[in-house]
Amino acid sequence: MRGTRPFHAQRYSRGAIFFHWTIALLVLVNLWIGLVGGSMGVHKAVGITVLVLTAGRIAWRIANPPPPLPAFVAGWERLAASWTHRLFYILLVVLPLSGWAMASGAKRYPLDWFGLFPIPYLPITPAVAGAGHEVHEVVGFLMAGLVALHVGAALRHQFLLRDGIVSRMLPGGRRAR
Ligand code: HEM
Ligand code: HEM
Repeated sequence: MRGTRPFHAQRYSRGAIFFHWTIALLVLVNLWIGLVGGSMGVHKAVGITVLVLTAGRIAWRIANPPPPLPAFVAGWERLAASWTHRLFYILLVVLPLSGWAMASGAKRYPLDWFGLFPIPYLPITPAVAGAGHEVHEVVGFLMAGLVALHVGAALRHQFLLRDGIVSRMLPGGRRAR
């Protein structure tokens, strides 16, 4: 075991923690609706919200770089984490965009934000909308797999290694900024 006491010194910023958990919750809701079932109107509104929040999150991340990992984290783990996180950011843009493209094809259903205001259809051809559909299916399953991997890693840090890594992303406690 690599250290039994929680590591608190360097945490993600308040903003990063806010974006992480808001987007995580919304992605879980949308994976549920997509894979299990539910209101597609809610699915679309939640997905567009994820797209907007992700734009804010990426801007926030550029202005507030993540805290460096503690020295005890092995090289392969750093590599696995950084590629998982990069892929997450790509999927957080591609998944909602492809869904939006798909929904802009037939225009059979209204597109709005929880009934409050309309969301415009993307100005794309039916062929692009069809491609969006294909992409959305593949990338939806990829997202589900990546979340499973990511949550597995978090559980490993929390309960097997007990190295306090997870507390870096938890609200509350001491913050770096
Ligand atoms: C379900 C959708 C989720 C997505 C899309 C997601 C995405 C991400 C991303 C992109 C990062 C990297 C942050 C950065 O450095 O910019 C991250 C970090 C993190 N996530 Fe998630 N996450 C999700 C759910 C979860 C859940 C359910 C947990 C806990 C069980 C979790 C625990 C963490 C932790 C502890 C970190 C910080 C890792 C570190 O200290 O380097 N995430 N997540
Ligand atoms: C975080 C964002 C999103 C996630 C995680 C997500 C996830 C999923 C998943 C897993 C499926 C099931 C895949 C399949 O079996 O075809 C699905 C289907 C679907 N999604 Fe999304 N989605 C997101 C955003 C969006 C957006 C923004 C829209 C449209 C504006 C959208 C529209 C649809 C539609 C219409 C389907 C049904 C496709 C079909 O019946 O073939 N999604 N989504």
